[in-house]
Amino acid sequence: DWDMGSFVNTAIEDIRSKVGDKQVLCGLSGGVDSAVAAVLIHRAIGDQLVCVFVNNGLLRKGEAEMVQKVFRDNYNIRLQYADAEQAFLSALHGVSEPEAKRKIIGKLFVDTFYNEARNAGEISFLAQGTLYPDVIESKSPSGGPSATIKSHHNVGGLPEDLKWELLEPLRELFKDEVRQLGRELGLPEEMVTRHPFPGPGLGVRCVGEITKERLDTLRDVDAIFIDEIRKAGLYDDIWQALACLLPVKSVGVQGDERTYEEVCSLRAVTSEDAMTADWFRFPPEVLQRASSRICNEVSGVNRVLYDITSKPPGTIEWE
Ligand code: XMP
Repeated sequence: DWDMGSFVNTAIEDIRSKVGDKQVLCGLSGGVDSAVAAVLIHRAIGDQLVCVFVNNGLLRKGEAEMVQKVFRDNYNIRLQYADAEQAFLSALHGVSEPEAKRKIIGKLFVDTFYNEARNAGEISFLAQGTLYPDVIESKSPSGGPSATIKSHHNVGGLPEDLKWELLEPLRELFKDEVRQLGRELGLPEEMVTRHPFPGPGLGVRCVGEITKERLDTLRDVDAIFIDEIRKAGLYDDIWQALACLLPVKSVGVQGDERTYEEVCSLRAVTSEDAMTADWFRFPPEVLQRASSRICNEVSGVNRVLYDITSKPPGTIEWE
């Protein structure tokens, strides 16, 4: 059995002796790995840690606020918040091809992140929430199993003017150990158990053109779906649940009125490692509640589909 107490003590000693009196930068994604890495490093070196969080406008409802609240208010961590929503919306304007979207989002993220980093003062280390499975995967010749199917979005190589050393305090841990560690360090349960979320965020769930209005609609749909899953006590039985907004309109009726609005699709899968996945068998009443709430509460959506495609042949995300 893994001894967390001694892991924390050793990790803190290691971080202190490696970092000395230098400064560490850590990018927060909202996900559990970077969050745990940041909080652990903060416990070791306090204000020598600076975190950067980029709001790309493609985040879930309340996500940017939650990250600021947790890290700045609860932990008192130095946090640079880059609100890049407008830049991302402009760069994505009129783009609907999935790989084009991914490339634009990935490149703009990297540019925004490093610009922010250059304003963070004299930095010597870049902290990353690399886990043991990532270490193994990056040693495989293909650079990971899905690398050739969708371009994945990671910080990648450093720009030449930034001579940072990597600090990866979680590189011997598995995901369940990281979650345990996150709890021990006081991260909210909601953050510790959160489903995976792709780097390109809602950009690859807003199928077709990305606009602020469509993203807001999708955020509302997603929040209702997740809320109903949580209320049904099923969140932890599901690997990942998500909503997509489709570039399709359909006719409906509300009151005595004919409507002509957008269609959303809900997806929930079980999986061990995201390489294969099966669609989740919901009790019908959970889907029923989600569907009726979405049509009643989200303006601009009048039809809800449930995706029953496994992976393969479908991927988990739609794009
Ligand atoms: P797919 O859609 O390929 O996704 O079945 C497999 C898992 O990877 C997540 N995903 C990403 N994660 N950057 C990430 O960090 C990405 O660009 C990305 N694209 C997909 C996806 O949410 C699922 O968990």
